[in-house]
Amino acid sequence: MSMLITGISELSTCDDGQEERAATSEEAALTRGLGVVRDAAVVLGGGGEDSAPVVEWIGPAEQAPAADWAIDLGGKAVLPGFVDSHAHLVFAGDRSAEFAARMTGQPYDGGGIAVTMAATREAGDAELRDLLARRVAEMRSQGTTTVEIKSGYGLDVEHEVRALRLAREVTPETTFLGAHVVPPDRREDGGREAYLDLVCGEMLAACAPYARWIDVFCEPASAHAFDGEESRRVLEAGRDAGLELRVHGNQLSHGPGVRLAVELGAASVDHCTFLADEDVDALVGSDTVATLLPGVEFSTRQPYPDARQLLDAGVDVALATDCNPGTCHSSSMPLMIALAVREMGMTPAEAVRAATVGGARALRRDDVGRIRVGRRADLAVVDAPSVLHIPYRVGVPIVRALEV
Ligand code: NIG
Ligand code: FE
Repeated sequence: MSMLITGISELSTCDDGQEERAATSEEAALTRGLGVVRDAAVVLGGGGEDSAPVVEWIGPAEQAPAADWAIDLGGKAVLPGFVDSHAHLVFAGDRSAEFAARMTGQPYDGGGIAVTMAATREAGDAELRDLLARRVAEMRSQGTTTVEIKSGYGLDVEHEVRALRLAREVTPETTFLGAHVVPPDRREDGGREAYLDLVCGEMLAACAPYARWIDVFCEPASAHAFDGEESRRVLEAGRDAGLELRVHGNQLSHGPGVRLAVELGAASVDHCTFLADEDVDALVGSDTVATLLPGVEFSTRQPYPDARQLLDAGVDVALATDCNPGTCHSSSMPLMIALAVREMGMTPAEAVRAATVGGARALRRDDVGRIRVGRRADLAVVDAPSVLHIPYRVGVPIVRALEV
């Protein structure tokens, strides 16, 4: 069965291979880089490998072929579903009081992770599965069609495995984050070393079957997280176990995370809030995407990362939510786009790219994040004529995943 979608005022393919077709040069300038086709149509066809619909045809509506079914969107913008390449969705409990304290000046130091750990260990499988399903549905209702999910609130073998097993039920992009912090029950003398032994040994072996990635909270400025050498040990152990690498780096200070991620060939280094020129130089020409998480700066009252410096240097940039109970309890990619545009010097087109094809690069995926013939039909619809409305209509729920 095929389906023809018409009434697309602006189709942002985010595909570099797509010839841009804009009516005016002003329109073209504002959306340059998005591979836009105006007054477009798309034909979707039968299932691909996992029986998801695939894109069969893209072009101007007046040239569209016939199909078995047709829907008319009545003049809306369509773009690839967002690729949220950084989220921590398997958790229970409530840290709204910690957020409120931060708004009156309390700094973030990662200590609250232990609060979520306790609540998450306490929760049953059914409760966690339900919370996770709601969060994924909340993301989809705001246009996200691919999400990466980390463990990191279990922090013992049993509960880290459980988190990854549950995450695997909803996404193939699962990340082992046993090295999130040293849990409070392991902080006695020598406990830190013993916890790292556990993470790199028994815990890694038990978690690896459920994970594609390994991550570490590399942050010497936090007493709870890990320094450069500890992070290197975790990442190398993960790599030896067949996992691919990602890093939480440079969130709270000018730490070693970015350079370590680049040196080890991590797919992404995430946060990048405090960057020295050498960090930017290391990222240029590397295989490592800089993933920016502006919801974290919003929710922790930190300075925003310098996206302009990264983009001007030619670094690959992604935007993600980091949705988690501590530093950003928002699942909204449209909000991240708005913050990137308003606070980080990104153009709307750059921000939309970073939230789609940028996220796909951060996950080393080329089947999502852009609309291309033969690829998965993960589409998002904007209840407005252009993606420019995403940051413009900040806070208004105008983007959703297209259910076909
Ligand atoms: O990406 N920085 C480390 N991990 C999360 C926060 C986790 C938490 O505070 O619960 C982050 O910001
Ligand atoms: Fe995170």
